[in-house]
Amino acid sequence: MTVVVQVSKVHPEPGVIVRAAAIIRRGGLVAFPTETVYGLGANALDPDAVESIFTAKERPSYDPLIVHLQDATQMELVAADIPDLTWKLAAEFWPGPLTLVLPRQPRVPSAVTAGGDTVAVRVPSHPVAHALIVAAGVPIAAPSANRFGRVSPTRAEHVWTDLAGRIDIILDAGPTSVGVESTVLSLVEATPRILRPGGVSREALARLLESVEVEHHTIVEGGTAVSPGTTPQHYAPEASLTLFQGPRAQVLPAMRRAALGYIEAGERVGLLLVEEDLSVFADLPVIREALGSVDSLSQIAQRLYSALRALDEAGVEVILARDVGTTGLGLAIRDRLTRAAAGGVVVMSDGSAADSPDSAPSGPLTPLAS
Ligand code: TXA
Ligand code: MG
Repeated sequence: MTVVVQVSKVHPEPGVIVRAAAIIRRGGLVAFPTETVYGLGANALDPDAVESIFTAKERPSYDPLIVHLQDATQMELVAADIPDLTWKLAAEFWPGPLTLVLPRQPRVPSAVTAGGDTVAVRVPSHPVAHALIVAAGVPIAAPSANRFGRVSPTRAEHVWTDLAGRIDIILDAGPTSVGVESTVLSLVEATPRILRPGGVSREALARLLESVEVEHHTIVEGGTAVSPGTTPQHYAPEASLTLFQGPRAQVLPAMRRAALGYIEAGERVGLLLVEEDLSVFADLPVIREALGSVDSLSQIAQRLYSALRALDEAGVEVILARDVGTTGLGLAIRDRLTRAAAGGVVVMSDGSAADSPDSAPSGPLTPLAS
């Protein structure tokens, strides 16, 4: 049986934390909020407890887990040969949404690292996550608390939908603030490499690092369409999502044409939009989810997964989403939408060399062909 317990996100009630920590120590599973998404936690040093995470999520065992620590000094419990750079990054970005991949300590169960020689670690900034790790007295291995293949949970209700009956307790502290997962940065190669863009931007890392690479599958550029199936689908909604990239003046008419085509074919259409674009589709029989202002990537990131789940719940068969560029959190948002895009990625061009979706005009759109 799974219980849900409300907990303050500012001053977590000690009674609740002690109860959840006891569950961790006896090998149980606790879903808890972090600043990014809800995690499904177990004692990282207990192989059986770690195994049960994979069972509850139906997650394949080849996908390693992030170990959550109370502070940077705990890295030495799970990592070895820690490069100097690590301490600099930790001082700048922890606690916060940055995960570092480091050489592993032999004591880390191989289920955590999927049998590899590296371990991913992060120090979350959410007071509930922090209090839980401190009270448990052990590092906590935690993937996102969703069923494998579904979008990450940003609310306790999402965890309930995916995992009720499979885990011991859900700590409900309301919606998470960042909304997309942590940035995963590998420090085991010659040049630091972003394996997954996330809550800490590439630009913020570049300010501290001499150079930083981005794993190339995470960005999709050029061409007209990326065929479905070539992008790893880890964050998919039930509906078939198509992502539209390019200048606003080209993208919005293309989305409108696509929507009309689906409507004529009798399909239920959902649109994932920024607030500024809502009115463009007001006359269509579609479900519109506004993520936030085009000027607030943090708001868009925060609402992204809730909006995808809401569209699924509304029973849409098709989702059309507009890209938000690659600046700051945009890179993580594009990465998740690209992975969710079973319907493919449509790249519109205005014919100019600088085909940048980052420079979308924000003024009113005139006239709209359909
Ligand atoms: O924000 C987050 O990172 C959330 C919260 C709960 O902390 N956690 C999360 O975990 O998103 P998960 O398991 O859903 O995603 C972890 C990612 C996966 O893509 C996994 O492959 C990668 O981190 N990862 C974990 N350990 C790794 C390792 N040793 N080397 C390379 N990648 C690793
Ligand atoms: Mg996940």
